[in-house]
Amino acid sequence: MLIKTKKSGELAESEITSENAYLSRRSLIKGLGLGGLLAAGTARAGVLDLLSSEEEGDGQAVRKPLQYRKQTPAPPLTLTPETKVTNHNNFYEFGTDKTDPAKNSQSLRVEPWTLTVEGEVERPGKVDVWELMSDTNLEERIYRMRCVEAWSMVIPWVGFELGKFLQRFAPTSRAKYVAFETLYDPEQMPGQKSRYIGGGIHYPYVEGLRIDEAMHPLTLLSVGLYGKTLPPQNGAPIRLVVPWKYGFKGIKSIVKIKLVEKMPVNTWHQLAPREYGFYANVNPAVDHPRWSQATERFIGPGGLFSVKRQETLPFNGYGEQVASLYNNMDLRKHF
Ligand code: MTE
Repeated sequence: MLIKTKKSGELAESEITSENAYLSRRSLIKGLGLGGLLAAGTARAGVLDLLSSEEEGDGQAVRKPLQYRKQTPAPPLTLTPETKVTNHNNFYEFGTDKTDPAKNSQSLRVEPWTLTVEGEVERPGKVDVWELMSDTNLEERIYRMRCVEAWSMVIPWVGFELGKFLQRFAPTSRAKYVAFETLYDPEQMPGQKSRYIGGGIHYPYVEGLRIDEAMHPLTLLSVGLYGKTLPPQNGAPIRLVVPWKYGFKGIKSIVKIKLVEKMPVNTWHQLAPREYGFYANVNPAVDHPRWSQATERFIGPGGLFSVKRQETLPFNGYGEQVASLYNNMDLRKHF
């Protein structure tokens, strides 16, 4: 048995993910034959260029302060402390343990970073993400985040609406879906080099949304959290946030966005189609085949024993804004 010493702010995975869900997602990985090793700014700028070194104390990548509009009034939600948001992660390109991404991703080169937008658009293009951060009016969005593994957080993201961003490229009438792709760079991402580290996922990690979901004002491209640029483990420099869907839709470190006519594949659906759907709307009435989705463990402030079990809300609490997107759809079938 591997005994690890925990740093402050670090939580044992089994203390958060319901033990059942955590073991079960791992058993899926085990079933794939991978179990053995698993045991083992400027005035116009949104980014304030105040820091020049590449690393902060204790080996953590530098995060630059952002200029953004605060959310007012802030929603009445208890925030998950920053150290927990940045030390309990899923980013399989850097390993499958919740603490692996923070440990293994710090040297990811996030600057410069080019994002390509192509497909069914009249004006395809490439964007420098750091310029984009400077030229865009950034805003804070405090959202609930519900992982399919039945744990949840509340995170103050900084970003901008995906829909407004996509409009710049003039989507055509054939753009029915939006496909996203994470960086593919096995030299930097050990999980892409080794099935054992990367959980057997077929890389690059891909995700997708229906066009109306992508255009919904709640859907965010995030470039920061807690007022600073994203740390690598949370998907620097740019990631997707769709608050009414399970966390796996929130694809990290995006290099490509393609507007397409047909429903694109998404990584977790590809890996286990019976367990993870395309839509992945948070739904307490539809259990995962191997665990209940009725409740979740909220990772909030306080010590290890403060992880609180709470009821999971339909559409993660955003039903009023998004339920109409799914009128006349059987959400048991389209999970
Ligand atoms: N994006 C990539 N490229 N690789 C991943 O492994 N994991 C997903 C999602 N985005 C993942 C990813 C899952 S399962 C979750 S729950 C969220 O990222 C976790 O985001 P967080 O670590 O910022 O909480």
